[in-house]
Amino acid sequence: MTSNLDQQLKAKRVSSRKRQRDGMRSYFTPNKKKHNCSPVTAEHRLQVDNQETAQEQQHALMADNQHNEYYSDEEDLFGDYDSIACDSSFLAKLEDVEQNFKQCCSTPSRDAEKDGTTNKGHTSAQYSDVNRLIYPETDFTALKQTEKSNDAKRPCHTEINGHHFSSALMEDMFEDLPSSQLAFQQDNCKAASDLRTSEPAVLEYMGSAKSTTFVPSVIDNVQNSSDLEGKSEQRTVNPAFQKRMSFTEQLKKTLVGNAMVQMPQVSRTKAQKDAAVSEEISVAMQTMESSSVPDLGPFFGLPSKVKELIYKLRGIKDLYDWQKTCLTLDSVQQRKNLIYSLPTSGGKTLVAEILIFRELLCRKKDALLILPYISLVQEKIRGLASFGLELDFLVEEYAGSKGRFPPVKRRVKRSLYIATIEKAHILVNSLIETNRLDNVGLIVVDELHMLGDGSRGAILEMTLAKVLYMSKTTQIIGMSATLSNVQDLQKFLQADNYTSDFRPVQLKEYVKLQDVLYEIDPKEEECFRLSRHLKVEYSSNMQKMDPDHLIALVTEVIPVNSCLLFCPTKKNCENVAEMICKYLKKVFLQHREKEKVNLLNELKSVGNGTMCPVLKRTVPYGVAYHHSGLTSDERKLIEEAYSAGTLCLLTCTSTLAAGINLPARRVILRSAYVATDFLKRSQYKQMVGRAGRAGIDLSGESILILQERDKQLAKELVCKPTENCYSNLLHDNGKGMLCLMLSLIGLSITRTLGEIRDFLSCTLFSVQEEQICREKCLWDIVKDSLDFLTQKGLVKTAAGKEEDALLEVTMLGRATFKGSIDLTNCDVLYRDLSRGLEGLMLNSFLHLIYLVTPYEMVTQCKPDWMIYFRQFTQLTAAEQKMSTAIGVPESFIARKASGQSVKKAADSVAVNRLYLAFVLLSLLKETDLWTVADRFRLTRGFVQNLLSSSSAFCSCVLHFTEELEEFWSYKALLAELTKRLTYCVNAELIPLMEVAGVLEARAKQLYGAGYKTLAHLANADPMLLVQSIENLSKRQAHQIVASSKMLLTEKAEALQEEVDELLTLPHDLPSLSLGAI
Ligand SMILES: Nc1ncnc2c1ncn2[C@@H]1O[C@H](COP(=O)(O)OP(=O)(O)OP(=O)(O)O)[C@@H](O)[C@H]1O
Ligand SMILES: [Mg+2]
Repeated sequence: MTSNLDQQLKAKRVSSRKRQRDGMRSYFTPNKKKHNCSPVTAEHRLQVDNQETAQEQQHALMADNQHNEYYSDEEDLFGDYDSIACDSSFLAKLEDVEQNFKQCCSTPSRDAEKDGTTNKGHTSAQYSDVNRLIYPETDFTALKQTEKSNDAKRPCHTEINGHHFSSALMEDMFEDLPSSQLAFQQDNCKAASDLRTSEPAVLEYMGSAKSTTFVPSVIDNVQNSSDLEGKSEQRTVNPAFQKRMSFTEQLKKTLVGNAMVQMPQVSRTKAQKDAAVSEEISVAMQTMESSSVPDLGPFFGLPSKVKELIYKLRGIKDLYDWQKTCLTLDSVQQRKNLIYSLPTSGGKTLVAEILIFRELLCRKKDALLILPYISLVQEKIRGLASFGLELDFLVEEYAGSKGRFPPVKRRVKRSLYIATIEKAHILVNSLIETNRLDNVGLIVVDELHMLGDGSRGAILEMTLAKVLYMSKTTQIIGMSATLSNVQDLQKFLQADNYTSDFRPVQLKEYVKLQDVLYEIDPKEEECFRLSRHLKVEYSSNMQKMDPDHLIALVTEVIPVNSCLLFCPTKKNCENVAEMICKYLKKVFLQHREKEKVNLLNELKSVGNGTMCPVLKRTVPYGVAYHHSGLTSDERKLIEEAYSAGTLCLLTCTSTLAAGINLPARRVILRSAYVATDFLKRSQYKQMVGRAGRAGIDLSGESILILQERDKQLAKELVCKPTENCYSNLLHDNGKGMLCLMLSLIGLSITRTLGEIRDFLSCTLFSVQEEQICREKCLWDIVKDSLDFLTQKGLVKTAAGKEEDALLEVTMLGRATFKGSIDLTNCDVLYRDLSRGLEGLMLNSFLHLIYLVTPYEMVTQCKPDWMIYFRQFTQLTAAEQKMSTAIGVPESFIARKASGQSVKKAADSVAVNRLYLAFVLLSLLKETDLWTVADRFRLTRGFVQNLLSSSSAFCSCVLHFTEELEEFWSYKALLAELTKRLTYCVNAELIPLMEVAGVLEARAKQLYGAGYKTLAHLANADPMLLVQSIENLSKRQAHQIVASSKMLLTEKAEALQEEVDELLTLPHDLPSLSLGAI
């Protein structure tokens, strides 16, 4: 039995390593054919779009820029510590003995109970009922129940297969102990048995403790070791403390006891050996110290206040069963990395939030939450600010141009950083550079499947790979609703996996072919099962206008219930909304009439008196469109009105599905295409996943409108598994790989090619190497990338042999990775900034704006030459001179505007950039999006997006210039410009708009009502705000006040930290050291 156990122990020891740099290659999966994700194009008729003009194509060019700006380790716990008993880890053995024991204690009745109460077969088998012994609470009151049932459980803890467990365990434990420890343990056992007979009451309690079943002797050991040292203390056992004391804690105590025991005289070699042992013990203890989660209360280790806050602020009274199971998983307790995947609306966020609270409150470490879009970051900031205020932690925003790098060091409070993918990467880099990464105890990635999303996926992969490589204690948790090749991601993150198909509201999926609805059933051969014929009473005119029967489908649900109608293009959203309203009965106008009038007024006010004519016509019917062409103020109003039921139908593009949580009773997909591409499975899942509102609907339904010719493709779409998620380090000509290598060298994470190769074995790319890079091997790619970086003047190689040659970044290289500048543009940016220095025009913003107009926006907009020329003629003489200096002379624009051929072509990037700079200059001068959008015939959404991309790029250029001595003069200028572009409003509104989610219109209202500074808002009475600000709900008022309080606290604390640092006596002050001499 013992040798069997030994084998198991050894096996476990190997598999328990969280990061095995050398072992990664063994994880390669067989060479599978990569899933064909190439876009399927097909001609499809969109009847409603007949009127769509060429302008739509131009709008399509300015496509959702969400993808451009989304402004958008662990190793073995014991690291190099091998073991106390030379051949294998003593601690690991103890852990296993404990596990074995727990397994013995899992009675069949408990198993049965579990099966009966949770989703059968959904949870991974690896999560056995052992969890229940550690955290048996299945509801918030279960702690008491456990106490009550102590008597029933006790026999199991004391006797197994006729053996006294404690002694069985001790035998196992002693087998591998060094002699010094053995002597100590034997002494203690004796003392412990004496004590047991003398203190029956205490033992009775201990025998019932949930995770301490066999531990009395261990605890006794510690107690007795104190006695041995003559520091005899009154033995007192605090039941609440003992009850939650984990095995690790007790082991720590034993080790302390062992370390303190007086040793008899022994030989020098033995003494050295023992010294090495205690060194190992201390390393082990430190590691345990950093990995265990101290327990603060009954709510998954948190105080009951957290549970109350979740109820008060979220209205959630009890957790779903899966949420409880997930929070009590072994992986979670042991702080292993974890990926959990559940269907949309499954309630994944709450689990992540509770884990974040535990990290902040119990482990007193910072946490980082990574979300895909700026809007989501802002929504989360608003939602968690109240938790931060109540539970005393800071919530810091890292999105767009917000966020400090490295973050302010907080000595007292812990911080929760909420960041977009891009900002999270810069944040992690800055923490690595300042040696502070270990302060971040937990990183949570929402929508983990974003790893497969082009350049953003590459950034996410780099961030996580760096954390895995650099920190032994930072736990990574990823969640997603659409993961198929989760094993690859598991290998990459060295993570456990938890899955369940729980969905609080059942989702019924249908497809519609002509006027027949078929229910989707992947189990059926044909996939589609006839459900019903649609009742369509259409006039011939109506049939012509609405051949897809959208009106019939939506009116089955609205206005009492809500409906989302996904359309393939932005223009189509507007056309469909108008078409539907044209045929809706007048009775729809009466539904929530007053609220709709208010909404229209608000829309008018955010447009400074102008309102979108389409919305003006559709809102009275409770219908609106939603896409990136709207301003964020409009989008916010429409989202809020939809959530409140004022609007019952939104026609929207697929971006809504990935953004804010806006559920609907019915979701209709107007076409199986997004623009001209056939839907991907993950897109489909995200869209239909919006159907069914938790707590409101009993079921949700989705209807995909199909054309006969797409039937086969649609069958695959609804039945096949979600697309695999592949590494994107090679995306876009390997930009991700180049960027990764540059920052690895720049941050001194790796200094030779050999080290880079080692690092890369920790990436998703390495896990999928055989599937994604067939032409070249990893090593060749690395060498080619280094050549590229060297040629670009970003990296230089010192003398040395190929693999061991020392690499370092040049000044330009450092500036590039510090500013997160695209590698293909860094030299152009350097050139532009250098030229700028020669004749920087400072009597207008134009030149500076031109320098920070993002290069990637250039392709998204084609100049209208007439407008270009008109704008040019309105420039001042100095501005015109500057335009000519950058290579865009008046003659060029004039010839273009008059349709003449141009003899000498100008640099198209400079031309387009200058055009966009004109747009930005107009914005800075006028601050009115609508007028500017109109003047340049652009959508207001595009103009706003241009503004936020430019403010973010401006802060990147600022960081770039900070690293290059020759650009010293830019620093002050760009710092001011970033601020102006970020809050392109009247200066007095800036302090109010710093509060997450307070947009221009709201800031104006607040300012008008006398709330002029952050302090005004932070001290405001939410009820008074509701009374004095039009259309402000109680919830919004509370969120504004909470976010303001949080921001004020954060700013005040940062200043306080600065004061403390200024006043702290430097430890290396010469006079002090001289005095000491
Ligand atoms: N235990 C619970 N009881 C009641 N409602 C809950 C519970 N947990 C979460 N919810 C609610 O369910 C809704 C969906 O939750 P959440 O946003 O976490 O879903 P999700 O799993 O992240 O889905 P998606 O993949 O679509 O993002 C939210 O409104 C949330 O407040
Ligand atoms: Mg979610």
